[in-house]
Amino acid sequence: MNVLVIGGAGYIGSHAVNKLIKKGYSVSVLDNLVTGHRDAVDQSATFYLGDIRDKAMLNQIIQEEQIEAIFHFAASSLVGESVEKPLKYFNNNVVGMEVLLEAMQENNVKKIIFSSTAAVYGDVQAPLITEDAPKAPTSPYGESKLMMENMIKWCDLAHGIKFVSLRYFNVAGALSTGEIGEDHDPETHLIPIVLQTALGQRDAMTIFGDDYNTPDGTCIRDYVHVEDLIDAHILALEYLNTNAESQIFNLGSSTGYSVKEIVEASRKVTGKEIPVKIGERRAGDPAKLVAASEKAREILGWKPAYETIEGIIQTAWDWHEANPEGYAN
Ligand code: UFG
Repeated sequence: MNVLVIGGAGYIGSHAVNKLIKKGYSVSVLDNLVTGHRDAVDQSATFYLGDIRDKAMLNQIIQEEQIEAIFHFAASSLVGESVEKPLKYFNNNVVGMEVLLEAMQENNVKKIIFSSTAAVYGDVQAPLITEDAPKAPTSPYGESKLMMENMIKWCDLAHGIKFVSLRYFNVAGALSTGEIGEDHDPETHLIPIVLQTALGQRDAMTIFGDDYNTPDGTCIRDYVHVEDLIDAHILALEYLNTNAESQIFNLGSSTGYSVKEIVEASRKVTGKEIPVKIGERRAGDPAKLVAASEKAREILGWKPAYETIEGIIQTAWDWHEANPEGYAN
């Protein structure tokens, strides 16, 4: 099957390309390399340098490569930045999705696996967030992803474009073989920042707020290993190959860890001290996001292999130790 991975040079997209190729899919990648890395893309994929908002390019790739399904990872994805620069998010994410859906409709591509996010929910009081929980995003990033989900839903109704939207909780870790991993510039995500501190690349890391309404006062998140996450994407594509109904799934572990617990687990994995400072809250951060993930387990048969936070952090640590400068090595 011919699959186009948009954003296939990014952290999560590159892990998808790697696994799709291992599973025997024929993979094309479109990426503008604004945040992605050419070296992260498996050599067996056909690489196109370009932007999702370039419809002529999308048309050309879909036709030349006879694309049958799209994995859509390309987006601006930083909660804090989106509060400062909302229009960047509505342009890249929402306009990008509109152009992609036009190209899909015009070229009769009927399947899309979409990277959505837990950020569509906002502050939820329930201990575990189910897919039907109210959506009240606390950031333009979450709002843009909710708009994108809704755009696909209406195109399903009008044009029969079938979708699986996967609402990621906090994705972490690296390929267990060490070939690819996480490398953002600037880095804003908790686990890489904690590990850069362990490596001595930062004097200390800052915990963004310890006055949240949580047991230790720091934000709680649900961490899922990037390889487990990609397994769910491939199951979602197989699902669309045999089922007519579009679906939305949470991808998480149903277990929450506070920022302080992540630092503690990282000290255990790395054997390093990891100095921390307490800072202000970061705009747009909900106190707690933990997934109810039974739906993906039941309908897709998803079984995450990584069961402990230490196991996830270990793969990230192996990558950071071997590639302290990321892909610049
Ligand atoms: N944090 C710190 N210090 C840091 C970095 C992060 O205390 O230096 C805290 C944040 O405030 C937050 C937690 O660690 O409470 C996790 O922050 P990340 O930036 O690692 O992840 P987010 O939860 O903000 O966002 C991630 C993805 C989003 C996705 C979201 C869904 O980046 O794309 O998970 O939960 F929408």
